[in-house]
Amino acid sequence: MKTQFYTASSLDGFIATEDDSLDWLFPLGDINETSYPAFIAEVGALAMGSATYEWMLRHAQTVAAETGSAWPYTQPTWVFSSRTLPSIPGATLHFVRGNVRPVHSAMRAAAGDKNIWIVGGGDLAGQFHDAGLLDEVIVQIGSVTLGQGKPLFPRRLTSPPLRLDSVRQIGTGFAELRYLVPKGPAASAA
Ligand SMILES: NC(=O)c1ccc[n+]([C@@H]2O[C@H](COP(=O)([O-])OP(=O)(O)OC[C@H]3O[C@@H](n4cnc5c(N)ncnc54)[C@H](OP(=O)(O)O)[C@@H]3O)[C@@H](O)[C@H]2O)c1
Repeated sequence: MKTQFYTASSLDGFIATEDDSLDWLFPLGDINETSYPAFIAEVGALAMGSATYEWMLRHAQTVAAETGSAWPYTQPTWVFSSRTLPSIPGATLHFVRGNVRPVHSAMRAAAGDKNIWIVGGGDLAGQFHDAGLLDEVIVQIGSVTLGQGKPLFPRRLTSPPLRLDSVRQIGTGFAELRYLVPKGPAASAA
């Protein structure tokens, strides 16, 4: 069971524009030709921040037209927010705030032998990393730059560095990079 930050990013390190648009992302490739179908099949629980959840709320009609449901995930999802947010019919949602550790324990219990997906944003993934709970970072680097926007991983992470595990080309629109987060004595000594 792994905890994975799986996301797409622009070449200059943004996962959305400043106003939370993903319009730049979808023309870059067909999701069914990426690693996503195999990835999501192994996911047992999701975590996301409120901006990511509110994107789903705003685009419920489009998502429903494309996937058949306003909420495309069958797995339970933990939404981090300090505010009260509306639910989406058909979704199994837990609204939480604060420390990611107890939330991760609950997610692990729900996920069983499947993986935990940190959907985003980057700072939430960073909070799991800060707590030593992140195992992998999987990024589809899109062939565009945004100049500014919501950052991929707003942390200084230099020592130990992530370990590059694989590189895969997806058409002309994406390069997928898979990184492992170092664990154990070597990581804590660095
Ligand atoms: N390119 C991709 O594949 C991809 C993947 C995922 C997301 N996205 C997009 O990227 C953008 C991400 O937005 P974002 O960077 O602002 O991140 P976000 O994690 O979606 O939202 C951040 C907000 O979540 C709440 N939050 C985070 N941690 C919390 C905690 N521990 N306790 C309580 N509340 C917490 C806070 O807001 P409040 O407390 O005010 O609610 C915080 O401002 C969205 O537009 C999303 O749609 C893109």
